[in-house]
Amino acid sequence: MSGELRQACFDTAWLVRNLRSARFWPLNRVRPCRHSPVGWIGGAAFGYFSPPLQKTFLNLIGNFIMSKKTTAAITTIGGYVPEDRLTNADLEKMVDTNDEWIRTRTGIEERRILRGEGKATSDLCVPVMEEICRKRGISPLEIDCVIVATVTPDMLFPSTANIVCDKVGAKNAWGFDMSAACSGFLYALTSGAMYIESGRFKKVVVIGADKMSSIVDYTDRTTCIIFGDGAGGVLLEPNTDGYGVLDSILRSDGSGRTHLHMKAGGSLRPSTMETVAAKEHYIYQEGQAVFKFAVKGMADVSAELMERNKLTGDDISWLVPHQANKRIIDATAHRMGLSEEKVMINIQRYGNTTAGTIPLCLWDWEDKLKKGDNLVLAAFGGGFTWGATLVKWGH
Ligand code: UT7
Repeated sequence: MSGELRQACFDTAWLVRNLRSARFWPLNRVRPCRHSPVGWIGGAAFGYFSPPLQKTFLNLIGNFIMSKKTTAAITTIGGYVPEDRLTNADLEKMVDTNDEWIRTRTGIEERRILRGEGKATSDLCVPVMEEICRKRGISPLEIDCVIVATVTPDMLFPSTANIVCDKVGAKNAWGFDMSAACSGFLYALTSGAMYIESGRFKKVVVIGADKMSSIVDYTDRTTCIIFGDGAGGVLLEPNTDGYGVLDSILRSDGSGRTHLHMKAGGSLRPSTMETVAAKEHYIYQEGQAVFKFAVKGMADVSAELMERNKLTGDDISWLVPHQANKRIIDATAHRMGLSEEKVMINIQRYGNTTAGTIPLCLWDWEDKLKKGDNLVLAAFGGGFTWGATLVKWGH
C-alpha cells in the first residue's frame, strides 16, 4: 500500500472514530456530501437511520479500517549472555560487601561477564542476530535495518550496529546506535516500530546490548554489585491483524544527568592521564537519588499507558520491567495491580545489563508467551530516561 493511500486510510479511520463520539449529523449538516449526487443519496440514507444504527455503521467502518493498520509485530527473539559468572561470593572477595546485603537490597545473585582480549558489545550482539536469523529462517541479507541500543559501544564511531552488520554479513542493512541507557531498548523498539509502520522497511532488528563490565569500577561496591553483561534482540515485521508494538510513552529529563553518568571520555572531558587516574571512565551513580526517581518514573508511566489504553491489571498478561533493582520492580507491579506471577524477573541471574534487560526477559520467557497476551515493557535509566511500551503478542 502506498504511503498516501495508507495516510488516507488513517485519516478516514480517525474521522470515523471521532464521529462516534460526536453529535450525529442531521441531513442539512452533511456539508461534505452536498457536492455530488452520490453524497446526497448517501447522506439521505445515513440520516434516515436511527442514531444507534448510525453508530453501529460507523463502528463497523472504523474497526475495519483500523484493523488494517500496519503495526510492528515481534516475530522472533534472540538473546545472549556470556559463560563467565560473577557471583556475590566472588564480589565478597573484591569489595567490602556480602551476599545477604546484595540479595536483600537488589535481588541479584550473580551476573555474566564477557571476558577475553578484543571482546566487545558487538560480540554480544552477533549471537543475537544469528539466533534471530536461524529461528526465523532468513538470511542476514534480508534484514533492512539494525538498531543497537547501548551505552557501551565498541567505540565512539563507527556505530556498533555498523560493526554487527559487518560481522554477520547483513550487507543490505543500514543502522545506528541509540544511547538512552537503561531505557535504550524501549527507545529503539519504538523507533524500529515506526520504520515498519511507515511501510518503508519489512525487517528491522532491534537489539539492547551492554558490556557494563567495561565501565564498572570493581573497587566501588555501590556499583560493581549491580551490573552485568548481556544482550537481547527482536525482529520486527509488518502485521495487519493488530499485533505488535501498539503504544509507547517515552520520557526524558536531562537534568537527571547529575545523578547517573560517566564523567570523562566524551567531548566535555576528553580522555587524559588525569581523567583515567581519577577513574572518570567508570559509571558514577548516586544510588538513592536514582532509586527514588526510578520507582516513581517507571510506575507513573506504566499506569499512564494502561489508563490511555483502558487496561486494568487483569488485562495485562506480563510486566516486562527493566531489571535494575527487585524493589523497583515490585513497586511498579504493585502500582499496576499485578501479582508477582505476572512479572518477569531474572535480575537474580544476570544483574542489570542496562539496555539488555528487557529483551533478555522476553528471551527467557518466550515459551510462556501466548498469542494475544498484552505485555507492558517498562524502563528507567540514566539521562534520566524512562518509558513504557504496550505490546500485543502475535505468535
Ligand atoms: O539501571 C539504571 C538505573 N539505576 C537504578 O535504578 C539503581 C537505583 N538504585 C539502587 O538500586 C540502590 O540505591 C542501590 C542498590 C544502588 C543501593 O541500595 P540502597 O538501599 O539505596 O543503599 P544506600 O546507598 O542507601 O546505602 C545503604 C548503606 C550505606 O551504609 P550506611 O551509610 O547506612 O552505613 C552504604 O554505604 O549500605 C551501604 N552499602 C553497602 N553495603 C554493603 C552500599 N553499597 C553496599 C554494598 N554492600 N555493596
